[in-house]
Amino acid sequence: MKPFFTLVLFQILHAIVSAEVQDGQTGVVITLPPQPTDTGLKQIPDADHPFITPGPDDQRGPCPAMNTLANHGYVPRNGVMSFEEAIVGAQEGLNMDIGIVGPLAANALLMRGNPFINKFSIGGVSPLVPPLPGKIDGPEAGGIAKHGRFEGDASMTRSDAFIGDNRDFQDILYDMDLLQLGKFGDNGPDGNNTVFNVATMIGIMQHNTIMYQSTDPEFTFSASRVTGSSGAAAFLLNVFANGTTNQSTLPIIGSFLRNQTFPPNWFRAGAPVTGTVLGPNAAAIQAALPFPPGRNNAQGVYVADPLPPTPFNSSLGCWAYWVQAANTPAVLQNTTGIFKQNVDFLLQIQFPGNPACDQQLLPFGPAGV
Ligand code: HEM
Ligand SMILES: *[C@@H]1O[C@H](CO)[C@@H](O)[C@H](O)[C@H]1NC(C)=O
Ligand SMILES: *[C@@H]1O[C@H](CO)[C@@H](O)[C@H](O)[C@H]1NC(C)=O
Ligand SMILES: *[C@@H]1O[C@H](CO)[C@@H](O)[C@H](O)[C@H]1NC(C)=O
Ligand SMILES: *[C@@H]1O[C@H](CO)[C@@H](O)[C@H](O)[C@H]1NC(C)=O
Ligand SMILES: *[C@@H]1O[C@H](CO)[C@@H](O)[C@H](O)[C@H]1NC(C)=O
Ligand SMILES: *[C@@H]1O[C@H](CO)[C@@H](O)[C@H](O)[C@H]1NC(C)=O
Repeated sequence: MKPFFTLVLFQILHAIVSAEVQDGQTGVVITLPPQPTDTGLKQIPDADHPFITPGPDDQRGPCPAMNTLANHGYVPRNGVMSFEEAIVGAQEGLNMDIGIVGPLAANALLMRGNPFINKFSIGGVSPLVPPLPGKIDGPEAGGIAKHGRFEGDASMTRSDAFIGDNRDFQDILYDMDLLQLGKFGDNGPDGNNTVFNVATMIGIMQHNTIMYQSTDPEFTFSASRVTGSSGAAAFLLNVFANGTTNQSTLPIIGSFLRNQTFPPNWFRAGAPVTGTVLGPNAAAIQAALPFPPGRNNAQGVYVADPLPPTPFNSSLGCWAYWVQAANTPAVLQNTTGIFKQNVDFLLQIQFPGNPACDQQLLPFGPAGV
């Protein structure tokens, strides 16, 4: 049996026989959810998942997809969820393949959640996600909206954290995105220049990176932000598109980004959205970025980041994997019991493990940031 599946089997057995308490919290073993058998075209939402405006205690944050899934109850409406709940919700509502959503959910738990109790917030700090046992990563679990490890600069609809609100949708930023749509968009059922395409996403990313490099003294565009932001731009084209037409139109994108609700008469993708589907669009967007991975120095001059050590310098993706480990607290290596099992499981989910990136990293980042 492959080591990975042996690990999963061991975790399931362990869950049955043990209840483990650390620092007053009860550990919950993380597992891979069963994979869906129904992965075709389907109208979303169904009758069981109406839009309900979030209440004051419900967490929402920088990810339009997770916010939309929560507003419709495909993931818990309070915005606090487990690894499995995030994956199952994104699979059902958006036909996201586990190969994409698995590593995203693993990042959320390892960087900004509580992997011992298997919970993270898609917004800010929540009383439902206590700090790690022993507060080894500081006094609170931030939630994915916390700037730095996961949430970063040059987003399409959220401000850079140094400039303003990095969590909520910003009309002014979206209006600027729509100027690019007006210039580069394809013609469609809603009029000319109303369908998002690669040229539009390139226009948006070029505009945002140049604008923030010159206005945000702390502008940081690491390898993982390069892959993350161009990946998000590709998501907009491949995941939010109407599955019957493959078009991401002005009303569809407005509904997801501005209103955080599924558009009327929307169909999810006809097949799971995998890395193979997203790759060409993400690569085209990356190739057109004005800057290599880097950041502003104290004088506001953009300086390219040094390459990581071999073999992580072999590709942008492997470099991003290295940056991710550098932004995950090293103290997670020092855990025990279910806590350690879950950390090891999530690290395995993140590991690209392909020939171009075949060396697994343990987290080596600072705690409490
Ligand atoms: C558990 C799964 C997911 C997690 C933890 C997650 C997390 C995040 C985070 C932290 C950001 C902020 C990055 C930044 O701009 O600084 C983000 C942005 C984004 N996410 Fe997600 N995400 C998940 C799944 C998805 C899925 C399935 C989609 C599919 C459409 C998606 C689409 C986007 C888009 C388009 C943005 C960019 C928003 C912008 O630039 O204004 N995400 N996500
Ligand atoms: C839309 O574009 C088509 C093709 O370029 C053109 O023939 C048509 O006049 C345009 N329609 C409008 C309303 O501008
Ligand atoms: C949409 O994309 C899928 C996957 O690439 C393809 O199989 C399908 O034929 C496309 N549909 C249309 C209407 O272009
Ligand atoms: C957003 O919701 C408002 C209020 O329901 C509605 O009037 C508007 O048309 C919606 N916009 C989009 C782009 O879906
Ligand atoms: C998706 O495409 C179908 C078939 O063309 C159409 O009936 C439906 O209105 C479209 N939905 C959206 C949200 O554009
Ligand atoms: C990676 O770094 C090693 C050691 O410095 C170097 O020999 C190699 O050429 C680099 N590879 C790439 C693709 O830059
Ligand atoms: C792990 O714990 C040991 C013993 O307390 C300590 O020496 C070491 O620095 C810790 N390592 C990390 C990465 O926190």
